[in-house]
Amino acid sequence: MSAVTKEFKKITTNSVQAMKNQGEKISMLTAYDYTLAKIIDTAGIDVILVGDSASNVMAGHETTLPITLDHMIYHASSVVRAVERALVVVDLPFGSYQGNSKAALNSSIRIMKESGAHAVKLEGGVEILTSIKRILKAGIPVMGHLGLTPQSIYKFGTYTVRAREEAEAQKLLEDAKLLEQAGCFALVLEKIPAELAAQVAKELTIPVIGIGAGGDIDGQVLVLHDMLGMTHEFNPRFLRRYLNLFEDITGAVNSYVGDVKSNDFPNSKEQY
Ligand code: KIV
Repeated sequence: MSAVTKEFKKITTNSVQAMKNQGEKISMLTAYDYTLAKIIDTAGIDVILVGDSASNVMAGHETTLPITLDHMIYHASSVVRAVERALVVVDLPFGSYQGNSKAALNSSIRIMKESGAHAVKLEGGVEILTSIKRILKAGIPVMGHLGLTPQSIYKFGTYTVRAREEAEAQKLLEDAKLLEQAGCFALVLEKIPAELAAQVAKELTIPVIGIGAGGDIDGQVLVLHDMLGMTHEFNPRFLRRYLNLFEDITGAVNSYVGDVKSNDFPNSKEQY
């Protein structure tokens, strides 16, 4: 843990703003369960995102669309029970906020009340601004999410880099400013050109956290299972793997199977 990070005993929305103001980068990872959340909180992560990527990583769905509000609350409450220091942000899942601002508020209240999380994240800009304002009015901190927004995958058609064209880049910049003006405490930018992300981070006063959005912004987020190498078929350019747990776990399970079959496990010291 860096000396600057140690300054914050418990991370709040104010702490991440202070990090941006002081030029300290913000670290963020996903988690969906108690055990891994405990490990990454102990290791000093600043923000834990209970992402709707749980739909892919935990449930094996092809997209993030199938995960429900009840599922997200289950994952979020497991994470919250583990966390002592990090700020816990929870994704509003597809279908729980796009209908109208009342639905968005009710979904956010359920997340906050039933999981004990600290903030919610929603995908989109001007289209969902009324909902964001209503959630914020209820005192619930909101993190925005622009660029590649996986809940709209059937509109985009692919998971390729967004906002390469001038018109889309301009809309993204305008949306980012609207989210800041509405009162979002931070913004995630996913898979957009680094230069555009850097411009957004420079023009906004709130922290801008990127995934596949380059290094010239206020923080970084990765999906935990990807950076630990548990998922081995997903290899985007932006992903840095810190471990290769798919191979390590496969090796460990192979050894266990061998030990059981050969009657090597348990030995005389491993029994009562
Ligand atoms: O659901 C998720 O994991 C996310 C991150 C990729 C930002 O939204």
